[in-house]
Amino acid sequence: MNPQRTPLPALAMALAIASPAFALEGHAHAQPEKHALAGTRIIELTVDDAELMHMLLDEGVNPLACRPTPGTDAWLATDEQLELIARIGMPHRILIHDVPAHVEHERRTTMGLRGDDWYATYHTWEEINERLDQLVAANPGVVHALNVGTTYEGRTIQGVRIGTSDEGVKPAVLFNGCQHAREWVATMVPTFIADELAAGYGVDPRVTALIELVDVYIIPVVNPDGYIHTYEEGGNRFWRKNRRDNGTTCLGVDLNRNWDIDWNGGESTSTDTCSDVYVGTAPFSEPESSAMRDFILARPNIAAHIDFHNYSQVILQNWGWTSTPPPDQEAIDALGAKMSEAIQAVNGFSYPHGGGDELLYLASGVFPDWTYDATGAFGYTIELRPTGSPGFELPPEEIRPTAEENFQGILEMMEWAGVPISVGYPDGRPAQLRTDATTSFDVDLSNGTDSAVSGDLVYRLDGGIWLSSPLVELPSGLWRATLPTAPCDASPEYYLSLQTQSGLAVQDPLLAPDAVYTAGVISDVLIAFNDDGETDPGWTVTCDAADGCWDRGTPVGGGDRGDPPADGDASGQCWLTDNVDGNTDVDGGSTILTSPVLDASFDGATLNYLRWYSNDSGASPNEDTLVVDVSDDGGATWVNLEVIGPTGPGTGGGWFDVSFVVADIPGIQPSEQFRVRFNASDVGNGSVIEAGIDGISVVAISCVDESCQGDVDGNGTVGVEDLLAVIADWNCSSDCTADINGDLLVNVGDLLLVIGGWGNCNGG
Ligand code: ARG
Ligand code: ZN
Repeated sequence: MNPQRTPLPALAMALAIASPAFALEGHAHAQPEKHALAGTRIIELTVDDAELMHMLLDEGVNPLACRPTPGTDAWLATDEQLELIARIGMPHRILIHDVPAHVEHERRTTMGLRGDDWYATYHTWEEINERLDQLVAANPGVVHALNVGTTYEGRTIQGVRIGTSDEGVKPAVLFNGCQHAREWVATMVPTFIADELAAGYGVDPRVTALIELVDVYIIPVVNPDGYIHTYEEGGNRFWRKNRRDNGTTCLGVDLNRNWDIDWNGGESTSTDTCSDVYVGTAPFSEPESSAMRDFILARPNIAAHIDFHNYSQVILQNWGWTSTPPPDQEAIDALGAKMSEAIQAVNGFSYPHGGGDELLYLASGVFPDWTYDATGAFGYTIELRPTGSPGFELPPEEIRPTAEENFQGILEMMEWAGVPISVGYPDGRPAQLRTDATTSFDVDLSNGTDSAVSGDLVYRLDGGIWLSSPLVELPSGLWRATLPTAPCDASPEYYLSLQTQSGLAVQDPLLAPDAVYTAGVISDVLIAFNDDGETDPGWTVTCDAADGCWDRGTPVGGGDRGDPPADGDASGQCWLTDNVDGNTDVDGGSTILTSPVLDASFDGATLNYLRWYSNDSGASPNEDTLVVDVSDDGGATWVNLEVIGPTGPGTGGGWFDVSFVVADIPGIQPSEQFRVRFNASDVGNGSVIEAGIDGISVVAISCVDESCQGDVDGNGTVGVEDLLAVIADWNCSSDCTADINGDLLVNVGDLLLVIGGWGNCNGG
């Protein structure tokens, strides 16, 4: 849990009673084994100062926040404690009267559902194993059963290997879930990965290629004893640990504190058997953690793994136990960034990546740190959805989208592990060739387990034979690739073909030439308006918010509170809803940023802008919206263009590049009186609302083959037929084939173009 994102009353949060930070501070409480939640209520409480807060903690009132601070927050209290709170006159309000009933309701509404989609509901341990068994049976030679070991209560930890018959000779990756029993979606995501890989092998070219290159180990439930306890009658939906009998009143060891890396190191650990972060009697005292250890040690080809948890929606990298950067920081961070990007590209949900300290909290004795320390394999923790409320109880309809976005993340890890050179394009890849000039771009071949000794850019313009031009190594260490000019009607395709030091051949895209990069052709970009935020060409701001009105500048908030850490187009400045570090979001009202009048009357005009929006950082998340409207009459009337939020893609920050063809906007005519406006508001409850706008443009892209101007009949030659066509169309002023220069009149200008282009097109 990230304290900055701690929302108000979430039942699940309240139930993270022995939350690590809390236990760390020495307030771990004995948890009765059965009916732990009986007789408790969730209350919203306003605590004036630290002294009162400590009094509450001493009385055993459980804070919902990971790091309780004075202010208004949710707490879990018994009736006795409530009486005390009332007696001393602390302002409070009961949010949930009957906590066990609430949990029971969840059990009934989320587990009973059965439809066609296995991922529409959560599943028991038995059902997950059955699914794995079916995959093995249905995919002989590709999905192989694994027996990882035996749990404290004697169950078999099941898994699968997805790969070809030659186990152990290729690099491998490992995906596991559910060290923590209550994190239900963390069992579904690894199962989904197994399902998708099995289904994609031999069908989806990328999946097939990756399975040929890497072995994938998948273990959805590392802690079956605990998981079963979260389902069973009389169990506890919010159980975290395994089910070891500690010989005290409390059961269970936190498996993710039991690994031999800074074991019992004091970062969110406890030696109290009743704590949710109880470390056990020694490193690997638990059968589940030692089984996983032995599994990994027996497979030295494992190059990376992901330990799935929920919730917080972050990707945690080594180290988790210290803020000292790991030896492979750069490579670890680069893979973290790739996964984060790939995940966000699916549904727009952002999973920031970084160290444990930076994004969550430090923790000693965690699994991914052990892997990295003991074997050198990079270890990641992915905390799945949600960011905060409703915590462990992610609604079942979010299982599939969560799994789908994370599937794209694991493909990145497979590609990283299996492909010896990771190709980067520091300034992007060309999406357009030109009619009048060649197109060069830089390629970064420095990342990967191998290095490049040479490479070629392989291309063709019209589906014919492939041509190639060598990559040229630059003094900077980057490589330069150059594509030729192309005529307007070409369909350029290209890929890179590289030779590595150790004699391997690598292609980018991986599956080239079956999959290739494509580009269009342009001769002209007509720019009617282009605003990078460095000056103000006449925007207007209206604002009835108490704070946070639109404002232009270089972001200074640092990005820790839903605000953009930098502008969108790297020019420096952009438009922002307030721009002071600290509490500077939109509060109590709306602020509207309206463009000057723009010319969007020309053919092919598109409106483009970069937008940032975050409404889920802090209290009352996902309640407000960013509304974008456009006008074709200078602002007299407005038509809605898009609404971002209150939930869904684009509400968790991140710069989004959006583009609209003006003529295609319902209710809008292309006009010279075009305007766009952005309305960010904070209405109802106080929420943290941060918005940004940058890189606003109105442009049209066109292609005219200079060398072929005058070829009215399109036969590839400019000649007498074209001259006759101009004459036949003489003085035509609408829809005229012979209007070569597009000035809406067939006249002498067009005649001159025919004469100028006399002869063959394209020099051919
Ligand atoms: N929520 C997990 C736990 O507490 C994540 C630990 C990952 N590492 C970290 N440094 N926070 O076990
Ligand atoms: Zn966890």
